[in-house]
Amino acid sequence: MKHLISPTDLTVSELSGILDLAEKIINDPKEYSEACHGKKLATLFYEPSTRTRLSFEAAMLNLGGSILGFSTADSSSAAKGESVADTIRVISSYADICAMRHPKEGAPLVASYHSSIPVINAGDGGHNHPTQTLTDLLTIKNLKGRLNNLTIGLCGDLKFGRTVHSLINSLVLYEGIKFVLISPVELRIPTYIKEQVLEAHNIPYEEVDILEDKMPELDILYMTRVQKERFFNEEDYIRLKDSFILNSKKMSKAKDDMLVLHPLPRVNEISTEVDSDPRAAYFKQAEYGVYARMALIMKMLEVE
Ligand code: NCD
Repeated sequence: MKHLISPTDLTVSELSGILDLAEKIINDPKEYSEACHGKKLATLFYEPSTRTRLSFEAAMLNLGGSILGFSTADSSSAAKGESVADTIRVISSYADICAMRHPKEGAPLVASYHSSIPVINAGDGGHNHPTQTLTDLLTIKNLKGRLNNLTIGLCGDLKFGRTVHSLINSLVLYEGIKFVLISPVELRIPTYIKEQVLEAHNIPYEEVDILEDKMPELDILYMTRVQKERFFNEEDYIRLKDSFILNSKKMSKAKDDMLVLHPLPRVNEISTEVDSDPRAAYFKQAEYGVYARMALIMKMLEVE
């Protein structure tokens, strides 16, 4: 049995299997409306979420399955001191598959060691978020038509942003990928990602702290929120939170077919005036999250 803990758990051919199935679902959702009849998904969320949890639940309901779970640590027995290991042992007998979000890096991996059902990492601290990556890849593939030969700007909190860490890990598997890493010096991408992922795959990248100059080069601009909850002190957060604000003036320097992605939630790093720009793809991206998760659930439950 297989879990999805890290984006590197999926090979290019497994990724394309999931993305192809997601596209089939988009084209004919009715065909899949009973695919998971009789199956249950548990969502174990120890950290806040809107899109990830609700799109997981919508995905399972769209497949004719059912859902159960909790959405805050304090509404579960974690508040009484129960370990993730004990919780998952029990949930394994209540559900067929589970999605877990946890503030501690590695918690879903620990859960997978004690689980008899597939565990999906729905975000672990500042580490990984593989199902957001599936969503991002599906969005890029569908709206750009390809996953290779792309210059991708990743902008904002590259230190704590788990969606960025996961996306890099998967995109390095495709040909002709270049990254422009745009962040304040304090929020640069962790060294282990530079050395073990980017450099290990010979991926060209540059680190800059100004967005405007790089706009004309980008095929994709992936904006991110400064991850307030992972800062050690409020002063640093306040100093860094408005480092980058994407507005219409900056968009005027971008290619006509550049796409703006954002995993959401947005705070103020994208001005709302950008929402009506045809290149703004972040709400469409959130919609694709349901299809990506439907495809993933089907693959993991082997119900295709
Ligand atoms: C992201 C997350 O939780 O890491 N949100 C999401 O899952 N769509 C991004 C964020 O919280 O900034």
